[in-house]
Amino acid sequence: MDRYAVIGHPIAHSKSPRIHAAFARQTGQALSYEAILAPLDGFVGTVHAFRAAGGRGANVTVPFKLEAFALASRHTERARTAGAVNTLLFDEHGILGDNTDGAGLVRDLTANLGCTLSGRRILLLGAGGAARGTLLPLLQAAPHRLALANRSVSKAVELAAAFHPLAGAVELTAGSFGDLAGQQFDIVINATAASLAAEAPPLPAGIYAPGALAYDMMYGRDETAYLLAARAEGASRVADGLGMLVEQAAESFTLWRGVRPDTAPVLAELRRELGAA
Ligand code: ATR
Repeated sequence: MDRYAVIGHPIAHSKSPRIHAAFARQTGQALSYEAILAPLDGFVGTVHAFRAAGGRGANVTVPFKLEAFALASRHTERARTAGAVNTLLFDEHGILGDNTDGAGLVRDLTANLGCTLSGRRILLLGAGGAARGTLLPLLQAAPHRLALANRSVSKAVELAAAFHPLAGAVELTAGSFGDLAGQQFDIVINATAASLAAEAPPLPAGIYAPGALAYDMMYGRDETAYLLAARAEGASRVADGLGMLVEQAAESFTLWRGVRPDTAPVLAELRRELGAA
């Protein structure tokens, strides 16, 4: 049976084995998918051992996405621009590194949440790895504007400068949270780690346009601090990152197996369990 795995540290609470087992059942693919805890100083050895034991591919999660990028012998364009890899494919040519996080976000926004991105005003909060990983797919969705805002302004400015050559007709801007005063957005995406500390980025009042969606890449049983704040500030709709998790998994599964699973029943099941947790 073809073997796959998710490799991270920590890894015990990963939902990926259950998601991929559900995809495999649904599509009739014979494969196994396990969670592997790699030592913090032993990621590369763990990947090579898994491959030698018959592994065909792997997902990579915190804190190894940069090491996975360095390990891959070739990269997809979206992995190259992200500078990080969350999906490895082992084949006769070596190790292909891909990054499915941004595509997962875009698919969650469009297919699951019914958002149109083309022509819209999008605000992306944060300038770390999570934000960077989603920039190319967001730009490719052709919004009217993509504004980057970050606590440390210089990081947002650097990120925007790096992606400027790929922006095409999209108005790509960067600034501080305070710089957003007086501006309005149709979709606001929180890619900061603030929710981990139960904090919300300090945004000026009035940034949510009528009908706006507030999206947090994090998720949990309770609404994140950012989504609570966005609701109070007048965002019409809020959504957490559980859909992105399932959609990035579906992108990886499609790369590995050549067949796209139906994410809706898997997402519904995870949502039910999260509510009951
Ligand atoms: P990740 O890979 O999750 O993006 P990271 O690269 O460490 O992690 O980036 C964390 C991001 O969350 C950064 O944009 C960080 O802002 P700074 O660049 O100013 O550090 C942001 N962040 C973390 N805690 C935050 C908070 N409490 N409020 C606002 N932004 C926060």
